[in-house]
Amino acid sequence: MSMKAVAVANPKGGIAKSAVSVNLGHESIEQANRTLLVDFDKQGSLSLAFPRTADPTKRYIKTVDLFGTPEGLVGAELEYVTPTVAIIRAEKEDFEALRALERAPDDFAKRPARVLRELVDKFDVGVFDTPGVIGVPLLAALTAADAVVCPLALGLFETDGLAQLWQIIRQVKSGGFNPKLRMIGMLPSRVNTRDKMAMAELESLRKHPQLGPIILPFMLAERVPVARAINMRKPVWQGAKTASHKAAGQEWKHACSHVLTSLEG
Ligand SMILES: Nc1ncnc2c1ncn2[C@@H]1O[C@H](COP(=O)(O)OP(=O)(O)OP(=O)(O)O)[C@@H](O)[C@H]1O
Ligand SMILES: [Mg+2]
Repeated sequence: MSMKAVAVANPKGGIAKSAVSVNLGHESIEQANRTLLVDFDKQGSLSLAFPRTADPTKRYIKTVDLFGTPEGLVGAELEYVTPTVAIIRAEKEDFEALRALERAPDDFAKRPARVLRELVDKFDVGVFDTPGVIGVPLLAALTAADAVVCPLALGLFETDGLAQLWQIIRQVKSGGFNPKLRMIGMLPSRVNTRDKMAMAELESLRKHPQLGPIILPFMLAERVPVARAINMRKPVWQGAKTASHKAAGQEWKHACSHVLTSLEG
């Protein structure tokens, strides 16, 4: 089978894109898929969650390389963190270069897809984490992906950013970047279930004529064990003992397996 890749995207910052990417990675690995993780965000959150186990003296393909010329890839190899899981990292030393890419001409966004296309036979699932800022790296991830899932945060400032998200998805699909990009759905994330206003807002968004049908029928509540699991580099559902952790585990396992199932279809 050839790789199907999902990008986790929403240019709004801090709404769980990386948390979702990391756990999609864990779920894909648990399903025994050959998995390629690509960190399109200069902050390197996905890279941090899967630390280096391979030879530090070797030259591995890293995120900036995806935007360079084919010659830049000569002598670089894929970094495997396990025999079936590889990662393309946003390295700390490339922070400025990746930031500069945010303002590069849009055509640069087509380069990573060309490099990643060469790898489709080596993997079953690709997971692309994207930055919380509009620019070429986000455009590139959406161009190289088969599908996108968008964490959705509630609140005035958060939902205001949705217009930007639509604009970029429209650009990807109609602007010659990736007409086949599929929307898996919007995933309500970091939801404060104790806040009645937030819950009412979610209910009303679910009834919205355009937005409602693409909001996934479940959510990820804001729960302390989620952040802890991320900090411990564990899947949210692993080792749950408290009620809150068990609830978080069920939510995240369900959401991640749903996204991977939708990715196949
Ligand atoms: N459901 C949740 N409950 C509690 N904490 C959460 C939850 N989801 C995410 N977090 C925490 O919120 C913080 C922001 O999440 P994350 O880094 O995944 O967001 P992001 O969208 O990737 O941000 P950025 O735009 O900066 O890349 C992290 O510390 C993460 O552990
Ligand atoms: Mg992030």
